[in-house]
Amino acid sequence: MGATTALRRTAPATPHTASPSELHPQLNHAHVRFVGLGKTYPGQHGPVAALHGIDLAIQRGEVFGIIGRSGAGKSSLIRTINRLEQPSSGRVLIDQVDIGEFDEDQLVALRRRIGMIFQHFNLMSAKTVWQNVELALKVAGVAKAQRQHKVRELLELVGLHDKHQAYPAQLSGGQKQRVGIARALVHDPEILLCDEATSALDPETTQSILGLLRQINQRLGLTIVLITHEMAVIREVCDRVVVLEHGRIVEQGPVWEVFGDPQHEVSQTLLAPLQHALPAELQTRLHTAPPSSDAAVVLRLQFTGASDEPDLAALFSALGGRVRLLQGGVERIQGHALGQLLLAVSGSSLGAAELRQRARQWAPRTEVLGYVV
Ligand SMILES: Nc1ncnc2c1ncn2[C@@H]1O[C@H](COP(=O)(O)OP(=O)(O)O)[C@@H](O)[C@H]1O
Ligand SMILES: [Mg+2]
Repeated sequence: MGATTALRRTAPATPHTASPSELHPQLNHAHVRFVGLGKTYPGQHGPVAALHGIDLAIQRGEVFGIIGRSGAGKSSLIRTINRLEQPSSGRVLIDQVDIGEFDEDQLVALRRRIGMIFQHFNLMSAKTVWQNVELALKVAGVAKAQRQHKVRELLELVGLHDKHQAYPAQLSGGQKQRVGIARALVHDPEILLCDEATSALDPETTQSILGLLRQINQRLGLTIVLITHEMAVIREVCDRVVVLEHGRIVEQGPVWEVFGDPQHEVSQTLLAPLQHALPAELQTRLHTAPPSSDAAVVLRLQFTGASDEPDLAALFSALGGRVRLLQGGVERIQGHALGQLLLAVSGSSLGAAELRQRARQWAPRTEVLGYVV
């Protein structure tokens, strides 16, 4: 696991003659690329540095998640992609084109290639669903027949064809976000930016919006860049994820890797809610040293998804003695089995440290939690 981790987290040692794109050919195909990106805001008490030296490549067609604590710089980063924010240093490349030098006309064209949806939907309350979606097409001077065709098609896509005459106030949160999504797609964009787009929705509605985003990603081939504080959303739809802290990248990788074995303290904290806590009742029975010679060792095995699905018969026979399952299970993310098992092992000839060592063959992050009678 150590080797895999090092490969994933640390850039390979780079001979100074080779450029990054020579070493990493995938950078040449990156849909969105940040190169040494920095952002500083003028603040009341002096400049506020929101982003520092961001180097990141987002591939075409992927669903890319950005996570981090509040104030980490997530919105600042995503907003440089359509130049709602102007970088203070570094570059943003879209299809290898530096958008930093774009004039007003080029910016208008760029923003048509990039749709965006927001937490609070940003709909116009005095306009109907139809008019909200149609507006951007009108502004762009699209002829009426084409507008009608496009709006109908999009309302069909987001499942709102029967609501076209409704006003935003008459819609549920999920329906409002569906209007937001339809509106974001009017110019057939190639990138969709989502800043906390499901954060105002209940879990069930969140699921339906995520389903819609996945459908859009797969059916229309859009690249989706998504900010959320809901880790379950990332787990559900993202291919890769980056973790920001104080405007810097502290971790990135495929979702299964980062979720299965988070390396940075911030990632561990953000992902902690997805972990099953030790049951309180068990916690009270747990001893730090064996209270008697027949006490059972309590092990927590964490499966990081880096190896095959655990062979439980082999695991239990390697531990020896009597193995009882206290809690746990695995779930699948991107085809990898991630999860944890709490086991109580009694009557084994092995001591706690040896049991831990054995279990690590199957679950690299195995700890001894203590002893129970
Ligand atoms: N328009 C602004 N003016 C001044 N400071 C800002 C502005 N927008 C964001 N910031 C500051 O930049 C930092 C990053 O903010 P933001 O990108 O909104 O973070 P996040 O989306 O991760 O919560 C924060 O310290 C925030 O206060
Ligand atoms: Mg934000």
